[in-house]
Amino acid sequence: MKPGPPEMLSGDGNSTQKWDSTSYQRDTGFVSVYGEDVLSWLEPQRGERILDLGCGDGVLTHKIIATGATVVGCDASQSFVDTARESGLQVDLMDGQALIYDGEFDAVFSNAALHWMLKAEDVIDGVRRALKPEGRFAGEFGGFGNVAAVSAAMRAIGRECNGDAALIGPWFFPTVEQYSQMLEMKGFIVEDITTFARPTPLPNGLISWLKVMCKPFFDQFGDRADEIYAKTEDALRPSLCDHTGQWFADYVRLRFRVKLA
Ligand code: BEZ
Repeated sequence: MKPGPPEMLSGDGNSTQKWDSTSYQRDTGFVSVYGEDVLSWLEPQRGERILDLGCGDGVLTHKIIATGATVVGCDASQSFVDTARESGLQVDLMDGQALIYDGEFDAVFSNAALHWMLKAEDVIDGVRRALKPEGRFAGEFGGFGNVAAVSAAMRAIGRECNGDAALIGPWFFPTVEQYSQMLEMKGFIVEDITTFARPTPLPNGLISWLKVMCKPFFDQFGDRADEIYAKTEDALRPSLCDHTGQWFADYVRLRFRVKLA
């Protein structure tokens, strides 16, 4: 690894999103559970050296290690890095848009992190540099149309309540064609890429999820934040809450596996 700046704090360099690993694990712990499925696209091998890009609290990183690979995690959130290190992982505090690894990994893996990194081309450049010749890159993140209902509701309520819609996200949710083209332009061969809707049950309801994932948008309303959370919940109940009271996030996933030419 080449020497880099001592500490980079923002995950994406574009928003005020801050992570708290405790509320993340409590209210969105399903992220790593679904991520287990993506590991089959990585196919980690015993003895391989793998980078987990945007490793978060490191729950999935441990699962990759269990396959016999050596895994280094990296994440831009100090809270996540602290939690992952406390669990025994080797993790670097690093912005995924400015990776400083140099030809040292057999594979790079990423789950539910790439949509926070707007500079997607910089991410792909960094992954390419991090990989050994013939290395591979596999992962999953939000695809085109991801959380469309949630975003539309927040936009409408933001307008009605004089809020700043720019504080929703911003996120990178590409189509399969768009992301394939980006990867190919950077010298990767696309082996498999797909997108699918995955309505995802929210164990603690919509507001808990919004408080973890969309906090900057609601924080702008100060004392009115609770009222705005409730308004958003009311607006989305008909489309995202079923007859038993179970809430879902309208997730669309983009899953891919590519290798260096
Ligand atoms: C996602 O995992 O798809 C996601 C999470 C939070 C906000 C937007 C997207």
